[in-house]
Amino acid sequence: MHRLFSQAPGAVAAENARSLDTALNPRVEAVRPSKTMLLTDLARSMRESGVDVIALAAGEPDFDTPAAILEAGQEALRKGITRYTPNTGTAPLRAAIVRKLQEENGLEYSADEIVVSNGAKQSIWQALLAVCSPGDQVLIPAPYWVSYPEMARMAGAEAVVLDTAQADSYLLAAEQLEAALTPTSRVLILCSPSNPTGTVYDEARLRAIAEVVARHPRLLVLSDEIYEHIIYLPARHVSFAGLPGMWPRTLTVNGFSKCFAMTGWRLGYLAAPFPFAKGAAAIQSQSTSGASAIAQHAGVAALGLGYAGGEPVAEMVAAFRERKDFVLGKLREIEGVTVAEPAGAFYVLPQMDAFFGEGAHADGFGDVPDPDTLCRYLLEVAHVALVPGDAFGAPACVRISYATSLAKLGEALGRIARALAPDVFMRRLPVGRACYSFSEKNKAALDVLFRALSAALAPRAV
Ligand SMILES: Cc1ncc(COP(=O)(O)O)c(C=O)c1O
Repeated sequence: MHRLFSQAPGAVAAENARSLDTALNPRVEAVRPSKTMLLTDLARSMRESGVDVIALAAGEPDFDTPAAILEAGQEALRKGITRYTPNTGTAPLRAAIVRKLQEENGLEYSADEIVVSNGAKQSIWQALLAVCSPGDQVLIPAPYWVSYPEMARMAGAEAVVLDTAQADSYLLAAEQLEAALTPTSRVLILCSPSNPTGTVYDEARLRAIAEVVARHPRLLVLSDEIYEHIIYLPARHVSFAGLPGMWPRTLTVNGFSKCFAMTGWRLGYLAAPFPFAKGAAAIQSQSTSGASAIAQHAGVAALGLGYAGGEPVAEMVAAFRERKDFVLGKLREIEGVTVAEPAGAFYVLPQMDAFFGEGAHADGFGDVPDPDTLCRYLLEVAHVALVPGDAFGAPACVRISYATSLAKLGEALGRIARALAPDVFMRRLPVGRACYSFSEKNKAALDVLFRALSAALAPRAV
């Protein structure tokens, strides 16, 4: 008899557990879980245990899905539209997407160049997996959406991060791209309006980038346009595929989650030249198959709301704009915070590195060495959930999502301002200089010291 069978059941289980190979695929082992999701989950569980947490962490509109879309979803259920759908999407939805891309974005695609998926996240993942060979580079301007580098790495590619500056509205410059390109550069990811910065690429800048792309025959562009309708005039959305020579090299990704407040419906799509669409469709056919029949029926209604989502979307955008102005005003009142003005999406990414690092300390909490600790302090003490910027490749920043009511934003920003006020929070020491902000206790002690020094050094009357 096998040795294990002669042992007690508990011992067998323990022996099995010891001999079990729990190693994961190294590519999976290397994946960092999304901090946005971790923080949102943490805030939710604090709220469930009775803590009055205001979560400004999630990338999710607080609005309900517009009524006409809800009605279409219910109609799908009533009519029994509940079966498997074609792998790349239902014919009515793909036709509606083709029309939308033509009328709103000036892009010509045929239905077989559209792959409808369970969210734009899946569309991006499949697009990267389809076009990247092992060792290819995916160029990602930072600050970036959390999932891009992880997806690139899971696809076997190298994620190459291109840093951008707040002073340049966090936009990639064409010269910077040119300097970073190598023969293995395969995909440049652009996201406009951007998560996490809210900034929007203007046409001139995109044209300059397109000229660089055109000189590198292997380079493709993945243009993530999921926030396209959440944009504040005079900013205007420009689809990268519409720029001269760019259609054959562009993988356009869009979805319904953000602009139509449909996060839970899980619906997005890729529009790309047939060989790329075919590759993405092949992956989908062997993994998830077609997206939900109900969501797709509702998606047709969403695209039927009118140009750029019609009145329901315009109302949401007006509310987002008012909130953006409010949040910017409040942030600018906090000394030490700097922020680039967003022109779209529903995020701001203030630079807050004055509040962590050497010397940063919160009374009753302790030292604040890094952005994670700053966010933990704000969550534990101010009960406001934000996401540390390092999750987005912006370690000097934190991300604030303003997809919540003005009343909640007012309360949250008041709490943040109080938690960072000089009487309770000592900021970090600027490199090579003395501390420039003191808690009240320290201030009083230093006042005494300075008075004593001034008295000692004052010129004496002779
Ligand atoms: C920039 C960006 N792209 C894609 C997605 C994915 O959206 P979904 O999968 O909900 O369509 C998100 C969601 O947070 C996003 O912020």
